[in-house]
Amino acid sequence: MIIASKNLLVVAAVTFLAAGSLVCADQAVESGAAHSPRERLLMDFGWRFAFGHATDVAKDFDHATGQFSYFAKTGFGSGASGPDFDDSGWRVLNLPHDWAVEVPFDPRGSGSHGFKAVGRNFPETSVGWYRRSFTIPASDLGRRISVEFDGVFRDSIVWINGHYLGTEESGYSSFAYNLTEFLNYGGNNVIAVRVDASLEEGWFYEGAGIYRHVWLVKTSPLHVERHGAFVTSQIKGSSADVTARVLVINESTSAATFDLEQMILDADGKILATAQTKQASLAAGDTGDFTNAIAVANPKLWSIETPQMHKLVTTIKAGVSVVDQYETPFGIRSIRFDPNEGFILNGKHVKLKGTDNHQDHAGVGAAIPDALQEFRIVELKKMGCNAYRASHNPPTPELLDACDRLGMVVIDENRLMGTTDSHLNDLKRLMLRDRNHPSIVLWSLGNEEWRIEGNEVGSRVTAAMQAYAKRLDSTQPITVAISGGWGNGSSTAIEVTGFNYIGNGNTDQQHARRPNQPIVGTEECAFNNTRGIYFDDREKCHLRAYDWDPSRWGSSAEEGWTHYAERPWLAGMFVWTGFDYRGEPTPFGWPAVSSQFGILDTCGYPKDAFYYFKSWWTDEPVLHVFPHWNWPGKEGQEISVWAYSNCEEVELFLNGQSRGRKMLKKNSHIEWPVKYTPGTLLARGYKGGKEILAEKVETTGAPAAIQLTPHRATIKADGEDVSVVTVQVNDTQGRLVPTAGSEITFELQGPGKIIGVGNGDPSSHEPDRFAEGAGAAALAYWRVMAGDGIENRPEVAFDFDDANWPSAGGGRGRGNLGGGNVAPAQANVYRGAFELPAATNGVTVSVALRSLGEQQWVYLNGQAVAQNVAGAAGHEFKLDPALLRSGKNVIAVVATPLAGGRGRGQGGQGGAGNMPTVRIVAAPDNWKRSVFNGLAQVIVQSTQQPGEVTLTASSPDLSPCGLKLQTRSTALRTLVRSAGGR
Ligand code: GAL
Repeated sequence: MIIASKNLLVVAAVTFLAAGSLVCADQAVESGAAHSPRERLLMDFGWRFAFGHATDVAKDFDHATGQFSYFAKTGFGSGASGPDFDDSGWRVLNLPHDWAVEVPFDPRGSGSHGFKAVGRNFPETSVGWYRRSFTIPASDLGRRISVEFDGVFRDSIVWINGHYLGTEESGYSSFAYNLTEFLNYGGNNVIAVRVDASLEEGWFYEGAGIYRHVWLVKTSPLHVERHGAFVTSQIKGSSADVTARVLVINESTSAATFDLEQMILDADGKILATAQTKQASLAAGDTGDFTNAIAVANPKLWSIETPQMHKLVTTIKAGVSVVDQYETPFGIRSIRFDPNEGFILNGKHVKLKGTDNHQDHAGVGAAIPDALQEFRIVELKKMGCNAYRASHNPPTPELLDACDRLGMVVIDENRLMGTTDSHLNDLKRLMLRDRNHPSIVLWSLGNEEWRIEGNEVGSRVTAAMQAYAKRLDSTQPITVAISGGWGNGSSTAIEVTGFNYIGNGNTDQQHARRPNQPIVGTEECAFNNTRGIYFDDREKCHLRAYDWDPSRWGSSAEEGWTHYAERPWLAGMFVWTGFDYRGEPTPFGWPAVSSQFGILDTCGYPKDAFYYFKSWWTDEPVLHVFPHWNWPGKEGQEISVWAYSNCEEVELFLNGQSRGRKMLKKNSHIEWPVKYTPGTLLARGYKGGKEILAEKVETTGAPAAIQLTPHRATIKADGEDVSVVTVQVNDTQGRLVPTAGSEITFELQGPGKIIGVGNGDPSSHEPDRFAEGAGAAALAYWRVMAGDGIENRPEVAFDFDDANWPSAGGGRGRGNLGGGNVAPAQANVYRGAFELPAATNGVTVSVALRSLGEQQWVYLNGQAVAQNVAGAAGHEFKLDPALLRSGKNVIAVVATPLAGGRGRGQGGQGGAGNMPTVRIVAAPDNWKRSVFNGLAQVIVQSTQQPGEVTLTASSPDLSPCGLKLQTRSTALRTLVRSAGGR
């Protein structure tokens, strides 16, 4: 490798040349150059979804029941995995989607997962099928096309056009499949995904379904490999030596010669430096590793306060044609973990003030829109949190983007420890995907592997994984979160010891034992507390929010932080946890469904501990007094009043009378015993003898009005952006009523939709989502009769006797003859019947037609629904509710035969594969949620239409509230489109 010392150039590190091959700008390069070189299309919109079944084959859409299954012969995906399967009765939804959040709570469910009706006890709601059709233009022939899944929980199988692509067990790893050879160019394509969430990976809520983005990626045959760029930098004085490494693969059938150009851009898009490799060559099928050293003068460094991003743009050119262009966001910064000085960022000591977090949020579960990822990081930063541990699994890539953008360092964690190919491949995929994020400062191999962490196996596994990880990235330190066996096992082998709880071990001893080993507190505290609760109510599983009750293994906030703050050699600590999460409802079981370790609840509303950390993690003046002062019935009883503050002294007054002025010890709090009488608690905070802050807590009146406050009043009209709306119940003076529990109903008008509601109550069983229910009414029969004439056919009448008509087929799919048995005539009449329940209020019934002939006339109960419909495949007709009957309904279709006498053989004209589907969609109930201790949350998402959204909140006895949000038109991401444009 040649490293250029100045701003420029050089180096093709490895050049592959097949002996005797002709080196020229080959066909592949030319065909690629004809197109836009690389596309990454978002494939989130317009999927069809239905539950399959974990044990009942018929309910699992007869998947894999053919004589030859998809494992036997390619293209033999049957049932819902096949391309011709009729999914028109399935629900239409957008990704990300987590169905676990939509199913009810059930005491038979797993406590780890928050008692949702998913898992082995629930075969009917543990397998989900997703299908999506999309077109590929004929002009794409010659390109490489793949589908990328950012994460699917879990055990997914994917087919394209009935061809099996692969199985991915992990619920967290990102994965991709090449589609190129199996696609219909210039036609329709169907991707089918079966997701089986029967088994758990974690002991915490994990969601279910395709809960992260899906992408369709198109490149030229000669292109930068997926995750093929790796940018590292070394800061030298006022400049940085950037090493830009890219793997280029030549997937064409002949050798390629090309130029490789690299540019480093700053956040404003200004070119800072360039490099190039001229006349590089790759034989057909080969991969080359091209590394350029690029000096950047006076770079703006990435830091927590100024998270400056850079971008490496790699361009592959054949002559003057661009064959591929690949962008790699990265940051220039230096990091170091030091056994004596802790964590050093850009040469400066930074104490890590971190939180551990799982990946679910109120309302939406694990399916977190990108804007909500950002919201969560912003809320954490407000209390001075500067570090995030993605416990205990590879996170969603957009979470890492938010951390890069906002300045939050990250421990990026692998799921399971082990050294087989499969274990190491998971670690590799995590590292290759994430290694350019400047926010990531530690790779974590795993967490609390109790069976091995304290023994010889643990030290061997840790050492082997660490050596493997170092080969993938030698520039970043590696940790593992350990909870015991100090002095043995993992702690003897790991570069940076991750310490889970000072209650589990002794950091001072470990430091003395291994003085050259840096230590970071990967978990600490783990105190249980419920937002707005100050007296335990164990029946409701609510626990007081004073810092009195650490878990057995953990510590109070104050103990934990004091321990880490007082030891400069400890790099910092991560509080278990930043946000409450579903599942692990410690110390309760049912009916509690969420954990309450969080500093913020599942909505992101701060608990009192938030202000403890804010006091000692920021330089902002803080004065927070609690509890609330609404205690009817406790008059005369002593209540402990606390202040979290970073003032030097605080004086507390109750109704104007001083309860004492007290000094505040660093990293501590103040408390006063106060006999309750309604009124006003007033705290005054002093620094240098001067009052700098005052904070009031008042006894409020009864709930009187609803208030809605959006976190952003204008959002992008891209179908993805969200506004997180705080719902608050106030008294007549506009003060939050801290004990209010009113149920609020929400209505939304305009181009937006509610995607989730929550309230942070760890034992609430109210639904988080009100999804539309979709079902299909099976046709009781499907019969056909040949005849002449189109108009005025008596056979379409409701009570026409069709009992002796031949069947137009039964069962789906292969080899069923229907219309094929019928002689071609001027028109065939098809009849089928379905049943509807007596009450169909709020239900939409539609019939989805497939091609029965050239032209079709559709009737419901003898009345015309549609006339002269060409082809008809994919047409869906909403049925007029006035024509529907309770009980039997008859669909009749008059169809002129297909041209060319088609209609014989498999899937032929009128076969059961062409049976119409009757789709029944039950409108979702009204969205509603109770406030919990005065607060609830509504998450509103835009559609792709700009305009004004009105959210109205109402409740009996409260003044309603209307909120207007604007959705502003914006450039959409490039989207994958289907034939029907959905
Ligand atoms: C730790 C574990 C976490 C969580 C926590 C609860 O032992 O690593 O995942 O379970 O305990 O305190």
